[in-house]
Amino acid sequence: MILEKIANRTAHAGIIGLGYVGLPLMVAIASAGFRTTGIDICPQKIERLKQGISDVPDVPNSVLAPLITSGHIQVTTDFSVLEALDTVNICVPTPLCEDRTPDMQYIVAASEQIAQRLHSGQLIILESTTYPGTTEEFVLPILDAHVNKKSLIQSLEVGQSLEVGRDFHLAYSPERIEPGNSTYYVTNTAKIIGGVTPRCTEVAETFYAQFINKIHTVSSSRTAEMVKLLENTFRSVNIGLINEVALICDRMDLDVWEIIDAAATKPFGFMPFYPGPGTGGHCIPVDPHYLSWKAQKYQYHARFIELASEINNEMPRYVVEKISDALNLQRKALNGSKLLMLGVAYKKDVGDTRESPALEVIRLILDKKAEFVYHDPYVSNLSLDSKTTYHSKPLTANLVQSADCVVILTDHGVVDYNWLVEHAQSVVDTRNATRRVQMGQEKIIKI
Ligand SMILES: NC(=O)c1ccc[n+]([C@@H]2O[C@H](COP(=O)([O-])OP(=O)(O)OC[C@H]3O[C@@H](n4cnc5c(N)ncnc54)[C@H](O)[C@@H]3O)[C@@H](O)[C@H]2O)c1
Repeated sequence: MILEKIANRTAHAGIIGLGYVGLPLMVAIASAGFRTTGIDICPQKIERLKQGISDVPDVPNSVLAPLITSGHIQVTTDFSVLEALDTVNICVPTPLCEDRTPDMQYIVAASEQIAQRLHSGQLIILESTTYPGTTEEFVLPILDAHVNKKSLIQSLEVGQSLEVGRDFHLAYSPERIEPGNSTYYVTNTAKIIGGVTPRCTEVAETFYAQFINKIHTVSSSRTAEMVKLLENTFRSVNIGLINEVALICDRMDLDVWEIIDAAATKPFGFMPFYPGPGTGGHCIPVDPHYLSWKAQKYQYHARFIELASEINNEMPRYVVEKISDALNLQRKALNGSKLLMLGVAYKKDVGDTRESPALEVIRLILDKKAEFVYHDPYVSNLSLDSKTTYHSKPLTANLVQSADCVVILTDHGVVDYNWLVEHAQSVVDTRNATRRVQMGQEKIIKI
């Protein structure tokens, strides 16, 4: 029944959590012809979405609004709609607690809402990044507990309670989207799927095959969870390695950027990663800790993960040293200097400041009593704490000239770096954004 509904696209699809992951996914599902309902706990977000306004750059209003107007997409804060849904994708946050252990509260909340309305035939898919075992050891018991309770209350006969893989289906499929990447997006990035049972995998595969070009199934949900953590840990460790190489090159007076470019000419066995002011975003600084936390349960200490994280977390301090060097050349101190921070998003061409290393650099220079203004074409307001909000300043010649040092923390593509260096007194470039600048190289210090 569910397979038929999916194959003829009469299934009613649902998404829980409409952020960077859930919103593009919802649009992809609706664009394939499914009636789709998005649920989010944020009423302001739901109101904006109802007006066809997207706050995710990968989903332009021009794509979202017609789907809302035509009724292909409906959005709500009301979880009772789950009763009518045939498929549900969970795309809620998975951050870290203060002690850097997995914060599972959002997955718990979403699972409990589903559990109360779980019904025969339903397909539930967890997409949030998480540790191996979550779907089977954590989500399934929440669903089962409710099913069992309901069976008791309603005195269902034996055989009437819902069983995973027979009556409802549960799978894990990691979202691999990279915000801001216009080459690879939801529908043309291969999808990994691992069900709790083979039947769960089959139903989930049939669903994704309706709107994603390439599917790769794996033997279990735990395997699929580990695939995602491998991908992000791979990035974190390689970024840690190249940051370490950058620190060594600095001491040896070698240009790390030139070295990476040269190494990247090798057509096999090398993949370029680039140094920077640290890692940011929802994934790279967070996800590997989900793996190291779970590894500890197996008495394994994940050394690469911890080391990479340690090196990456030290990079903001190194950037501050470089700023201090740039000021020193002008016989100035950090104390009292005026700095222009160029870019505060964690990566180029996006407006996401979550875990952005720019915030740590700013905190450190404020500790040294420097003053700062910032410009970021994608981030109009910035809060470092609950007390103060900073506003992005227009990037004028006067703003650049009046700074003792311009610090490029994000290499946004819209900035004219030739123009910038021409007007700047000095520049610290943490992203090699000035590599093509012809005039004024003597003003630039790179990491
Ligand atoms: N952002 C990325 O680049 C990316 C890429 C791949 C995977 N992921 C993973 O996907 C998951 C979601 O990340 P994101 O970047 O979309 O997060 P996000 O913060 O952009 O969006 C999450 C949304 O979930 C909503 N929400 C929170 N609790 C909810 C609940 N109980 N019920 C309904 N809605 C709820 C929030 O209001 C928010 O709109 C995370 O596990 C993340 O690690 C993120």
